[in-house]
Amino acid sequence: MAEAVIATEHAPFELLHLSPGIGTEVHGIDLRDDLSDATINWLSSLLVERKVIFFRDQNLSREQHIVFSKRFGELEVHPFTDNNAEHPELIELHNNRERPPTINKWHSDVTWRHSPSLGSLLRARVIPEVGGDTLFANMEAGYDALDDNTKAKIEKLEAVHDNTTFLNGMIERGASEAEVDAMRAKFPPVTHPVVRTHPVSGKKSIYVNKVFTRYIKGMDKTESDALLQTLYHQAWVPDYQCRFRWQPDSIAFWDNRAAQHYAAADYWPEVRHMERVTVIGEKPF
Ligand code: SIN
Repeated sequence: MAEAVIATEHAPFELLHLSPGIGTEVHGIDLRDDLSDATINWLSSLLVERKVIFFRDQNLSREQHIVFSKRFGELEVHPFTDNNAEHPELIELHNNRERPPTINKWHSDVTWRHSPSLGSLLRARVIPEVGGDTLFANMEAGYDALDDNTKAKIEKLEAVHDNTTFLNGMIERGASEAEVDAMRAKFPPVTHPVVRTHPVSGKKSIYVNKVFTRYIKGMDKTESDALLQTLYHQAWVPDYQCRFRWQPDSIAFWDNRAAQHYAAADYWPEVRHMERVTVIGEKPF
């Protein structure tokens, strides 16, 4: 095992940090086991502290993936994605020559929902020989690094998020106008604070993202676009990031309340097949 592995007081688990501020591999754990509440609480705390935690060589069945994920909260059924026929909570992310990857954009999951995700648990089934890494950004660090004027300016602002990205996908796949309108009505735009306070740590982070945030309330479009660009940019700073190289049966569990992620699309036209389960969170404040 790598030298940087740190023994924890929760033996036999060991930790390998991927960068100082975000991302830790947890070794010595088998997620198929009936883990104690103490272990689950410890993993929850580690998630909050490290923003994303990783596990290697976890040959879970789909049921086991779901059972483990449920230990952290209620699971959502995503209304727009390709979900597994037997397990609708499980999103199938298949990319290949005919289905080029499209989520190479920084975002936090489902911020277009009234109560967006606490965290997502992504399992690798088939990965390309090289490429297809996922990058994660610590949005608390991104917030902390803003200058005082910007922090003061955004403190009380709210932004509107919506699911235009998915509605456009429906249109591309030939959905009728009535079908698209029905989904728009079922999932209307939502408003969230631009600066989110983490419900567990109390830390502030930037909670706008390029995929789902449309505009900042009460600002004209030019000013809103400029401010959003400044805030999005904080996810792109390598100092606040880590990068995960997948292997089959790796699992990443990220905290959508404090991190954004980006799935590199550099491997196309190779095959990449992932499965994601998403834990529901609370209304951001
Ligand atoms: C996602 O954005 O939920 C998936 C990330 C990935 O496939 O690496």
